[in-house]
Amino acid sequence: MTASVRLLFLYIFSLFISFPTAQTTFRPKALVLPVTKDVSTSIPQYVTQIKQRTPLVPVKLTVDLGGGYLWVNCEEGYVPSTSKPVHCPSAQCSLFGSNNCIGGNVCLYSVYNSVAHVALSTVYINADVVSINSTDGNNPGRIVSLPNFPFVCGTSMIQEGLAIGVTGMAGLGRSKVSFPSQFASAFSFPRKFAICLSSSPSTDGVIFFGDGPYNLGYLKADVSKALTFTPLVTNPVSSVPLSIIGEPSVEYFIGVKSIRISGKNVPLNTTLLSINRKGIGGTKISTVDPYTVMETSIYKSVSNAFIEAVRAPTVAPVAPFGTCFAFHDIGSTRMGPAVPVIDLVLKNGVVWSIIGANSMVQFNDVICLGFVDAGLDSLGYPPRTSIVIGAHQLENNLLQFDLATSRLGFRSLFLDHTNCANFNFTPSA
Ligand SMILES: *[C@@H]1O[C@H](CO)[C@@H](O)[C@H](O)[C@H]1NC(C)=O
Ligand SMILES: *[C@@H]1O[C@H](CO)[C@@H](O)[C@H](O)[C@H]1NC(C)=O
Repeated sequence: MTASVRLLFLYIFSLFISFPTAQTTFRPKALVLPVTKDVSTSIPQYVTQIKQRTPLVPVKLTVDLGGGYLWVNCEEGYVPSTSKPVHCPSAQCSLFGSNNCIGGNVCLYSVYNSVAHVALSTVYINADVVSINSTDGNNPGRIVSLPNFPFVCGTSMIQEGLAIGVTGMAGLGRSKVSFPSQFASAFSFPRKFAICLSSSPSTDGVIFFGDGPYNLGYLKADVSKALTFTPLVTNPVSSVPLSIIGEPSVEYFIGVKSIRISGKNVPLNTTLLSINRKGIGGTKISTVDPYTVMETSIYKSVSNAFIEAVRAPTVAPVAPFGTCFAFHDIGSTRMGPAVPVIDLVLKNGVVWSIIGANSMVQFNDVICLGFVDAGLDSLGYPPRTSIVIGAHQLENNLLQFDLATSRLGFRSLFLDHTNCANFNFTPSA
């Protein structure tokens, strides 16, 4: 075929079907994944779905905001028709770190399940096709594929504790091999992503990779233009089991300077709020902790200030919470239960306000402050991280993580009278 005949053929052909090879020249500006609140286990998990392998099959993954990589159970249900080991030495292997060639010519790593807290060393790093929807910020668009996406091979033992049908975890952390980093480098879009967790198991939230617009369906409002920003803080020490000694953490930390309830400062030991040289202290954001967990002295102080501000009697608490009220003593507003706002005061006086819908958890006629006292671990140690902001407190907030400029943008969608389920998942025609 001459070039012009081939072009004509391509043109006519593309009139009838979307021509698959066109994809190689199509460069998406952003990608999109749905996130479902899965309540099949005792603790909710936020689950996304990609397509992987040849032929492509849907793979469900628990979202781990602070996870470093994609891992999938390679032991069960994985027909490795196209999956191949990543070799050593290779550029792909060294993205995972420098020490992974100990196994000769195949790239090895460790794998960690942050839900069940189980880890395994010396597992393979494989690569396979990953397929995902692109987006213009309104609807899912053309599907793009990465033919050689590296992931860590988990086992059935490591899969323990994940929601029904889930066979791995999607790491969104600050590493070179997490989804945000790999997608940004494959398609040369900004190293940014946004996550919005739905509070309802029946309507999906969303993850956008790349920059906005992040348009809310019927409002056609771009939430990326309405964010408040705060710097992300680095933690010099990873606390993930089997991570290399001295490696920095790939989790996301922010600088909480103080906490205010009803506008009043809560007395806190500020030493606990910053991260020391050993990586202890500070505030991180997590999608695998269902509720915010606080070091004991912080929890007690926040809880006391909250009880004082609510001005209602407390009732017998419902585990894992320690501060509960009778539902009929607490009114309701459009922003959820009518309780005082809890403000996390960040750098330069920027405030993350936690409203009733995010602070409270209801059990029939009892309603509890949805924060948990970390207590001491089995060896008698306080938690490494003083405040872990959990998923319940993130629901219906759009969070944008910018890895290049190291900052977090956030907005409560309650301010727009909407929620995370209002991003549109109907593909455009
Ligand atoms: C793309 O989005 C549509 C609609 O949400 C969904 O049915 C399809 O499975 C998605 N494709 C991939 C590759 O994830
Ligand atoms: C504040 O916390 C630090 C770190 O845990 C501790 O060493 C110090 O004794 C605490 N200060 C007070 C006044 O409790």
